[in-house]
Amino acid sequence: MVVAIDGPAGAGKSTVARAVARSLGYTYLDSGAMYRSVALATLEHGEPAAERARELDIELGMRVLANGRDVTEEIRTSRVAEAASKVATDPDVRKELVRKQQALMSKGDWVAEGRDIGTVVAPEAGLKVFLSASPEERAERRARELGIDPHQVLRDQTLRDEQDRAREHSPLRAAADAVEIDTTGRTIEDVVGQIGTLARERAGK
Ligand code: DC
Repeated sequence: MVVAIDGPAGAGKSTVARAVARSLGYTYLDSGAMYRSVALATLEHGEPAAERARELDIELGMRVLANGRDVTEEIRTSRVAEAASKVATDPDVRKELVRKQQALMSKGDWVAEGRDIGTVVAPEAGLKVFLSASPEERAERRARELGIDPHQVLRDQTLRDEQDRAREHSPLRAAADAVEIDTTGRTIEDVVGQIGTLARERAGK
């Protein structure tokens, strides 16, 4: 079964998706890491981003490997995040990465996290969750994680949210049949427990 977890940056997707995967014994797929890897390759080797996406072999696990090189830390910089938001608007990049994600998830049980998992990558997912939280709380969580000024994070985040929602191809939106969960003021354990229960119900376990 596939559990799709979509939502804006800072809604808690990564932490929640990892924990849900662990509790269910499913494999975790971080689709954002793929967009970030393509963005890094494009910054280093130039456009066209779709060409970079095609030639990149991305391995996701404890570390993120792009053509064998460990890019785990580098893809988390704000420079790469900004570039990722841009390459994610390119329909050819999306096509290539969606293809890679679908190939990975064709077998086994997955918790996949992103923006378009429930709408495009895995429309048949057994459970679709759309995670959200107030912009202020999302910015505070990110700032705490990165040890930087929350106001700066909020400014960057607002810009990226706008880009992700307004883009023509696969804009960020909840699937019609997604369970929407607002994580504002809730603990990770609480949210993980709720999704785990829903997933077990859907999987008939
Ligand atoms: O979740 P993240 O911050 O690692 O994602 C990086 C960028 O990639 C972000 O701007 C949204 C984009 N993205 C996307 O368009 N589709 C996905 N499935 C995952 C990420």
